[in-house]
Amino acid sequence: SSFSTSSSAYAPITVKNITVFGSGLMGAGIVQVAAQNAFDVTMVDLNPEALKKGQDIITSSLKRVAKKQFPEDAGKQKEFIDTTMARIKTSTDSEAAAKNADLIVEAIVENLKTKQQLFSLLDKVAPEHTLFCSNTSSLPIEEIAKATKRTDRFGGLHFFNPVPQMKLVEVIRTDATSQDSFDALLDVCKRMKKTPVSCKDTPGFIVNRLLVPYMMESLRIVERGEATPEDVDTAMKLGAGFPMGPFELADFVGLDTMKFIVDGWRKEGKVDANLVAPVKLLDELVAKGDLGRKSGQGFYPYGGVGGKK
Ligand code: NAI
Repeated sequence: SSFSTSSSAYAPITVKNITVFGSGLMGAGIVQVAAQNAFDVTMVDLNPEALKKGQDIITSSLKRVAKKQFPEDAGKQKEFIDTTMARIKTSTDSEAAAKNADLIVEAIVENLKTKQQLFSLLDKVAPEHTLFCSNTSSLPIEEIAKATKRTDRFGGLHFFNPVPQMKLVEVIRTDATSQDSFDALLDVCKRMKKTPVSCKDTPGFIVNRLLVPYMMESLRIVERGEATPEDVDTAMKLGAGFPMGPFELADFVGLDTMKFIVDGWRKEGKVDANLVAPVKLLDELVAKGDLGRKSGQGFYPYGGVGGKK
């Protein structure tokens, strides 16, 4: 891809190679979707076991996609899986993996310092033209971008879990993100067959800015003894047409993640304090380790006899 070396004028780039940092839940999903749509992808994780787990997630997800796309044609299914997997490289070497990336997508732990450290390193080793973006759910993109000298080539690509199924990507621009960079990010989303929406760099972007206060208000209804989680969930599914009720969603997202987001926003002070006022019920469940699906117990039990699946 071509780029101008003069001051800040970077010609629009066409992204071909993508490097994804983090092979967890989100990173693996992003790698899969990129590879399925003809990008060459490198998946990086510091932890080799996480890398292996990421590959396993991708393989089993691709098998399901292949069966759906080519029912009763085992040959085509295999070809689809092999072609897609052939586009994916894995690495534990962050510097080497950055060297031929046109776009870097960061999906590592939700910690500002850790993300800044990674991007500070990548800024030094990635080519000039390389676009950087973070998949963060709750941190300001601008704060992460500060660790680099390429704030004009830095934005947010916020995917949703599970990445292969969820059509939406929120594309975030800071005040420093250039139009060319932003256009390139939108283009990548479309080539991944996702639907992008544009949003400024504000807490929670669009989806979580609306969902999180709604989920907190659901907790308050239950805490005041006005309705049970089951009835609130049923009400929102059948009365508002939501695919999941707020308590099912909270268990799916993880109660610790929800608390982390709310606590962060409260500290940051950009969101109306009443919307993110603490709820005892949430704090108590998190303190007990009842984190939702991943711990086997949240508002509902999971996996056990009589538990939800
Ligand atoms: P995860 O915990 O499943 O995966 C994170 C991975 O990053 C781990 O495998 C870890 O070994 C690796 N890692 C940590 N530091 C690293 C480094 N310096 N270089 C390379 N790899 C490193 O996390 P998850 O859930 O996939 O989230 C990742 C990001 O995506 C977070 O910023 C989160 O806020 C965001 N996000 C999460 C969503 C979710 O539903 N879980 C939804 C949308 C965004």
